[in-house]
Amino acid sequence: MTTVLGIDVGGSGIKGAPVSIADGSLLTERHRIDTPQPATREKVVQTIARLIEHFSWTGPVGIGFPGVVRNGMIHTAANLDDSCIGCHLEAEIHAATNCSCFVVNDADAAGVAEMRFGAGRDRGGVVMVITVGTGIGSAVFTDGHLVTNTELGHMVLSNGQQAEKYASDATRKKRDLSWREWGERFNLVLKDLEFLFSPELFILGGGTSKKLDRFRDHLDIEVELVPAALRNMAGIVGAAVFAAERNSSLQPA
Ligand code: BGC
Repeated sequence: MTTVLGIDVGGSGIKGAPVSIADGSLLTERHRIDTPQPATREKVVQTIARLIEHFSWTGPVGIGFPGVVRNGMIHTAANLDDSCIGCHLEAEIHAATNCSCFVVNDADAAGVAEMRFGAGRDRGGVVMVITVGTGIGSAVFTDGHLVTNTELGHMVLSNGQQAEKYASDATRKKRDLSWREWGERFNLVLKDLEFLFSPELFILGGGTSKKLDRFRDHLDIEVELVPAALRNMAGIVGAAVFAAERNSSLQPA
């Protein structure tokens, strides 16, 4: 299978595009639909189905979802409606669209794309991909192997605050923080991660990765930090790659 529709479910937008699995490129412009508010289970399923219809897609679909995902089932959804919890998203999207569908945590998806095609290519040791948007997501790799569903955005920082509440991009906007003020907050997140995990490399993903120049001067970590090479497309690409791998592992040899 060479082409998969990748979809990235976020707190403010649900985005997708067909992805070439061979090189991680998008085959068309991505399409974005606002995340319904409140993002109930029914509305999220309907919106994903609309996105699939937009591309008149009948092939496999990979979906990155902002919560803990195990075997196609949603276990947490901090920035969407609680009704999403307990949803077997793979089964519901299949029922709505007839497409075979594979669901993965959104930050894990972004991480997979960066390790394969982007800033983490050929990097060994512990690599941490941190995505900053409505929430803070994490993907942890050891020698290229993903430790799934790490939720380091929910870590309690050394100042007693929860990382995501303290330093997400949503918090920056809500509190109207300057890049300096926000950068100092995000610096604490990185410093605590550095102390606890001693990674070789941080890769910064999500919308904020495009703005690194505005707050880099306020970071004083020792570990190398680079922006995601695929920028905020990483979630779409990684969801597609994940689906391609799961799909082929289900086919008889
Ligand atoms: C969720 C994570 C997700 C992150 C980024 C957090 O609130 O718990 O699963 O990866 O937001 O979307």
